[in-house]
Amino acid sequence: MTLTDEIKRRRTFAIISHPDAGKTTLTEKLLLFGGAIHVAGAVKSNKIKKTATSDWMEIEKQRGISVATSVMGFDYGDYKINILDTPGHQDFAEDTYRTLTAVDSVIIVVDVAKGVEQQTRRLMEVCRMRNTPVIIFVNKLDREGRDPFDILDELEQELKIAVRPLSWPINIGAKFKGVYNIYEKGIDLFTPDKQRVSERVEIDDLNDPRIDEAVGETDASKLREDLDLIEGVYPEFDREAYSRGELAPVFFGSALNTFGVKELLDCFVEIAPCPSPVSAEEREVRPEEEKFSGFVFKIHANMDPNHRSCIAFVKICSGTFMRNEPYLHVRSGKSLKFASPTAFMAQKKSIVDVAYPGDIVGIPDSGGSFKIGDTLTQGEKLHYRGLPSFSPEMFKYIENTDPMKSKQLEKGIQQLMDEGVAQLFTNQFNGRKIIGTVGQLQFEVIQYRLLHEYGAQCRWEPISLYKACWIESDDADALEAFKRRKHQFMAVDRDGRDVFLADSSYVLTMAQSDFPKLRFHFSSEF
Ligand code: G4P
Repeated sequence: MTLTDEIKRRRTFAIISHPDAGKTTLTEKLLLFGGAIHVAGAVKSNKIKKTATSDWMEIEKQRGISVATSVMGFDYGDYKINILDTPGHQDFAEDTYRTLTAVDSVIIVVDVAKGVEQQTRRLMEVCRMRNTPVIIFVNKLDREGRDPFDILDELEQELKIAVRPLSWPINIGAKFKGVYNIYEKGIDLFTPDKQRVSERVEIDDLNDPRIDEAVGETDASKLREDLDLIEGVYPEFDREAYSRGELAPVFFGSALNTFGVKELLDCFVEIAPCPSPVSAEEREVRPEEEKFSGFVFKIHANMDPNHRSCIAFVKICSGTFMRNEPYLHVRSGKSLKFASPTAFMAQKKSIVDVAYPGDIVGIPDSGGSFKIGDTLTQGEKLHYRGLPSFSPEMFKYIENTDPMKSKQLEKGIQQLMDEGVAQLFTNQFNGRKIIGTVGQLQFEVIQYRLLHEYGAQCRWEPISLYKACWIESDDADALEAFKRRKHQFMAVDRDGRDVFLADSSYVLTMAQSDFPKLRFHFSSEF
């Protein structure tokens, strides 16, 4: 197979949802269809049970397990599918944002009873920033839920994307009878059997009397009415608009009952994009280029303090990756060889000799060589963009409690930040270090890991901040004037960029209106 053939058959994506909508269940069913697993229940849930939220060691254990399921690769027909798993717990949302930089498309799972929830909304914002193509799966149709038209309206409004149903439910909850597949024209009848794919009634057109036989006259005429309305209201499915991230096809089903999942998968492999060109700072890199390049989007640390080692996850952007070939680690300028890169096929990790664009390889790293965002190439000095940091939600001063160990603390903080555990800002006024996170759990993780992996002790001190904004201006004087006025609230991020720490939304709004020549950004990529 040529490199182009390998690229064309790859589908690299993530499934995202608000916790509990059914991401794990859907992932597992997709693996069942791919023949990657044979029984339901084989995928260890990466979801953190609600009861365990205060017990983050338990969460880390689960995250440890989840290394194996971080990437699930399998063949489906002629396609090679790579599903990138994302943490279910919202305190690790930053991990999910970064994973989204390594996918070519996403499937969003929405609970039919709950509709669009907070986490879904935020993740969709990240997809929108990158114009990532999105397919939506409305799940749990076997339960009582909302009217599907209401759900479509809500998806459009809340996720700010045009939608187009490609399947349609026949009733819902206890009366749920099946799904009409608009894309392929056929009805799948629902049998609430948790392990079996149900029966399909092929029909020629909507007047086919077999519909009435299958679901009864009342539901058949409701279906015809609904579809009339859909055809009238929603434009034809436009694949180009989907590829540009402007239109989301919507499927209905029940992941738990393996219902509507195959339809989703079959349509997905057909319409979802294969790896596309990626922008580096220097130029656009096409996947078909002969020379290998890729970037680190995730670093997974080993929680065992006796073996301080990590796995760096590299997304291949171009060319062919080969084991034991020397590659340039652009940031350090060093040439590195990887003797045991791993590929992830379903649940197994195995040493891989070759990998292609769209694939993810895991590179064991015991020396802390890798940082999130690092680029590997065959010699060219490329820097991949698109790994933004977002303004954290919570901030605390980090203080050293053991003066003898300040070096260890420095090193620990630096390495944990390189791994992307949280963000560090250094206040320029008093030199104090501020750690910003998206959730309380990360503070606990950091404190524990600093102690157990670096022998450094720290404590947290409160600081009341609303947002961290990266600031810039074309007018150097205006920038300086701002920094002088706000000197107590000016910090630099890890890369030395100016960050304004606003302590309230009012202060931020005032700053924006007082300094019109400044631009305030809520993510580090602008
Ligand atoms: P998540 O990864 O998005 O957090 O969700 P997950 O798949 O773990 O699903 C959350 C809960 O919803 C699970 O129940 C799961 O069985 C259930 N579920 C998923 N899909 C469907 C569906 O189509 N219909 C119905 N009725 N339920 C569905 P749980 O009781 O929280 O967990 P478990 O004990 O069953 O694992």
